[in-house]
Amino acid sequence: MDMDEFIRSIPKAELHLHIEGSLEPELKFELAARNGLELPYASAGAMRAAYDFDDLSSFLAQYYEGMSVLVTEEDFRDLAMAYFERVAAQGLVYVEMFFDPQAHTSRGIAFETVISGLRRAQQGAEDVGIRSQLIMCFLRDHSVESAFETLEQAADYREWIVGVGLDSDERDNPPLKFREVFAAAREQGYRLTMHCDVDQQDTTEHIRQCLEDIGVERIDHGSNAIEDPGLVTQLVERGIGLTNCPISNSFVGDGTKAGVIRALHEQGVLVTVNSDDPAYFPGYVADNLAVLQREADLSRDEIVQLVRNAFTISWLDESERQAYLDRIDSWVEGTH
Ligand code: HPA
Ligand code: ZN
Repeated sequence: MDMDEFIRSIPKAELHLHIEGSLEPELKFELAARNGLELPYASAGAMRAAYDFDDLSSFLAQYYEGMSVLVTEEDFRDLAMAYFERVAAQGLVYVEMFFDPQAHTSRGIAFETVISGLRRAQQGAEDVGIRSQLIMCFLRDHSVESAFETLEQAADYREWIVGVGLDSDERDNPPLKFREVFAAAREQGYRLTMHCDVDQQDTTEHIRQCLEDIGVERIDHGSNAIEDPGLVTQLVERGIGLTNCPISNSFVGDGTKAGVIRALHEQGVLVTVNSDDPAYFPGYVADNLAVLQREADLSRDEIVQLVRNAFTISWLDESERQAYLDRIDSWVEGTH
């Protein structure tokens, strides 16, 4: 088995996937037609060719604009089902996926429409061998009040959502802005994570706030921790993992950060490889692992460690986690 085949077939998890960021142009056109909406491009190819972003905020503008075609429960189901079918072919067996309710409720789409559609796809995904859990993200460039309202809307669906996260534009929107929201979410039993996007202003201070003030259980991106040995020590000692996204890194910043991800791994941080927004930063989970493998010259053993890390830091209960880890071990055995 060659390396690419090894990466594609090993049973994998991903923990950093914005489901709205998996909306491919072809599906945008299908949904636009179904909902009687016009798109300002002649074709999916033309739309893809017009994508133009080189940092977080220019990406986000196109990400939010793209969501306008998501209107009905079926649209959300079809969006997530397209993702599941795609990654089933890449060996994905487990995903914790983000969704951004405020990006929809702010356009007049009901919270219930969004989550019911996603939930139906999650049930369908079990048929293609993928187990999934939802993480609800608050948009950090919206107000604290809006985040609290969203937390309230989620209450009726509490058992459908495993945790909460924080995404969108990080500039001037530090973790501390949402301290009370996250404290309330923790009280309600949600697991906690937050984005610290790569190379953002005040990034190491944001990572520190996540660890010391908010008490997150993992950090999305967060690779700038490498700049502060004290942060690295905390990550290692507390077993707090990072959800890294190599291809995404190369689109919103300077390169994939493969060397940094490798160095963090060597220092004992539980790093993982994920796709972030695969329709915009082209590459699903196995593609991201393949890019990292090539750029950081990872061995098969190191690939296995990174894949195991994702299950280790996942929000599965212990027996399920162990079952997946055992499954990886027997799969690896079978390749010898
Ligand atoms: N960073 C912040 N917010 C986001 C991202 C991201 O990579 N993708 C979707 N929302
Ligand atoms: Zn992200």
